[in-house]
Amino acid sequence: MIRAIVAVDKEWGIGKKNGLLFNIPEDMKFFREKTLDAVVCMGYNTLLSFPNGKPLKNRINATLCPPEINRDDLFCFHDLDSMLDFIKRAEKDVYIIGGAMFYHTMLPYCEEVYVTKVDAVGNAEVFFDDLDKDGDFSLVEESPSLDASGYKIRFTTYRNNNVKKI
Ligand SMILES: NC(=O)c1ccc[n+]([C@@H]2O[C@H](COP(=O)([O-])OP(=O)(O)OC[C@H]3O[C@@H](n4cnc5c(N)ncnc54)[C@H](OP(=O)(O)O)[C@@H]3O)[C@@H](O)[C@H]2O)c1
Repeated sequence: MIRAIVAVDKEWGIGKKNGLLFNIPEDMKFFREKTLDAVVCMGYNTLLSFPNGKPLKNRINATLCPPEINRDDLFCFHDLDSMLDFIKRAEKDVYIIGGAMFYHTMLPYCEEVYVTKVDAVGNAEVFFDDLDKDGDFSLVEESPSLDASGYKIRFTTYRNNNVKKI
């Protein structure tokens, strides 16, 4: 199954200065548990936002990257069709892990989206699509509001009712 996983603020903001808006270990733990041993696909800016620009451990990493970039520490694709072909052949769960540009491109192919909602405003520069305004998506699960490192957060799941087949 193809899923996206994201943390958003009250305005569906997800990042600024090529970094995250919040540091919430409880959400990091959720992300790690969900994506462990899976395939994680990302845009190139998101790869660069990781410590030392390195792929995530214990996962199969793939990125859509500029033509001049070729790396041997993860799968690099230079066009969307090659990335989609790779995803189609994957024998494990696939997670789309950001950022804004890549989420937007991949959302139609995602069956589910795990959205951690942070009840705060992070003054974001980049945003996730507002799924409450997207007729294809419905909210199917929502945790109670939880206290997490000084923030109120909710773990939610949206389902795509109009999945685009690869
Ligand atoms: N809150 C969260 O859960 C979360 C998760 C992940 C990331 N983020 C944040 O999101 C921000 C990064 O997002 P971003 O939108 O700047 O970058 P991005 O989507 O990570 O990467 C953008 C780059 O990837 C390539 N790319 C992405 N989609 C493409 C497409 N459809 N076709 C061709 N190339 C494509 C492009 O390379 P070229 O155009 O250079 O060829 C583009 O410059 C950071 O602030 C990061 O911290 C937040």
